[in-house]
Amino acid sequence: MRDYIFPGDFRWGAATASYQIEGAAREGGKGESIWDRFTHIPGRIQDDTTGDVACDHYHRYREDVRLMREMGIQNYRFSISWPRIFPDASGRANEEGLRFYSDLVDALLENGIRPMVTLYHWDMPQWLQNLGGWLNRKSADYFVQYCEAVFSGLGDRVLSWITLNEPWVCAFNGYYAGDFAPGIRDFSSALQAAHNMLRAHGMAVRTYRKLHGNGEIGITLNLCPREPATDNAADQEAALRNDGYANRWFLDPLFKGCYPEDMMRYYQDMGLTLPDMEPMDMELIREPVDFLGVNYYYIEFTRAGGDNWPLYFTTTAGDYSVTEYGWPIVERGLTELLVHLDREYKHPKIYVTENGASFLDVVNVKGEVLDDCRIDYLERHIMACWDAVRQGVNLKGYYVWTLIDDFEWNTGFRNKFGLIYLDRRTGGRIVKKSGYWYRKIMEQNGIVN
Ligand code: NOJ
Repeated sequence: MRDYIFPGDFRWGAATASYQIEGAAREGGKGESIWDRFTHIPGRIQDDTTGDVACDHYHRYREDVRLMREMGIQNYRFSISWPRIFPDASGRANEEGLRFYSDLVDALLENGIRPMVTLYHWDMPQWLQNLGGWLNRKSADYFVQYCEAVFSGLGDRVLSWITLNEPWVCAFNGYYAGDFAPGIRDFSSALQAAHNMLRAHGMAVRTYRKLHGNGEIGITLNLCPREPATDNAADQEAALRNDGYANRWFLDPLFKGCYPEDMMRYYQDMGLTLPDMEPMDMELIREPVDFLGVNYYYIEFTRAGGDNWPLYFTTTAGDYSVTEYGWPIVERGLTELLVHLDREYKHPKIYVTENGASFLDVVNVKGEVLDDCRIDYLERHIMACWDAVRQGVNLKGYYVWTLIDDFEWNTGFRNKFGLIYLDRRTGGRIVKKSGYWYRKIMEQNGIVN
C-alpha cells in the first residue's frame, strides 16, 4: 500500500454554516431570517425541528474552538448570518452581531486556526425577502452593503472569503422545488434568483478588492457530475441537460461570461422566462475570482423521461452503495470533476470547501461514536483529491462537512454529518472516531499506510 501525501501548503479543515449551528435565533439583536420563518411553518421540516437552538454554538463557540484545537483543525470555514448584521431594513449594522463574529475570529486565531468566511449560506433576512428576496434586482445592492460592513469589521483578520455558498441549491430548492426557504415554486423565478445571486457575487468581489487587497475571495458551487444512467442517446442528452441545469449554468457565466447556449435555447423552447439582464451584468459576473470552492458529495446518474416539467429526467444512485441520505458513494467522481474543472475553466485554484457523509451514528456504552463508515468515505475522497493533485489540478485545500452534527435544512437533525457528535438533550459534544482519525490525516498531511 502506498502513501498519499499532499503538497506542503495544502489546507486541511472543517466547515459549518450559521443557521445550521448557531441557535440564538432571537438573541444578540439578530433579525428574523427566511429559515427562521420557514422552519416554523408546520410540515416543512421532516422531523419538525428548527434551528432556534441548533448546536447553541452562539453561546458555546469557545468550547467549539477548543475542541477544534484539540482535534488539530487548522482551517475553519464558517458563515455569517446576514440578519445578525442587518436585522432590519434601517440600513444600520448591529454592532452586537459584528462583535460575535469578531470574537469568534479572535478565538480562532488565538488557537492557531485560520478562518475562511462564507458571506451567504442561505439565511437571508426576512425583511429583504419581503421586498422580493433574490428576485429583486436591488438584493445585490443590499448584499454589498452587508459585505462592506463585514469586510470592514473582520477584513483585517480574515483573509479568505466566499461570497455565496451553492447558489444552485438556494435558487432551485428555494424558488423552484420550494422545499427550502423561501418555499417558492416557479422555475423562471429560480432562474431570476440565480442571476441576481451571481450579480451579487460579482459586486461583492469588486467591493472586496476596492476595500482590502490583501486576502482572497471566491465562490462555492455544489458541483455534482451528471452521468447518463445508460449509454442510450436519450439518457446522454438528459445527462447533458442536467449538467447544464445545475453545473454549467453557474460555471459558464462565472468563468466564460455567458449562460450555456444549449440551456438558454432549451428553456426558451419550454416557454420559460429567461432572467432579466442588463448589458453589464455578465461583465460583473465574470469578475475573476481568486479561487473556486467546490462542494462535492456524489454523482447523479441521469435517465431521460418522467413527468417533471421542464427538465424531464430522473436520477438514480446507480449500483453504488449509498450513505444514509441515499447518496451514492463514488469517489472517482471527485477526481474526474476536479480534473474537468481544471481543463475546462483554465486551471483555477480550487478548494474542496465541503465533502462528507451522513450516517446513523450512535453512542456506545463506553460513550464513543465509532463511525467507521464515515472514515471509509472520507479516506476514499481524500485519495481522490490526491489523485487530482497528481494530475496537475491546482487544489489547495479540503474541508470536511461538517465539524459537528447540525441542523440539516429540510431534513432537520436526522442526518448526521459531523466529526463531532451532538447530544441534543444536553448540548454535550463527543469527538467521533472519524474526528480522531482526521487529526492523524491532518498531522501527516495525507494518508500514511
Ligand atoms: C451542502 C450545504 O452547503 C450544507 O449546508 C449541507 O448541510 C450539506 N450540503 C449537506 O447536505
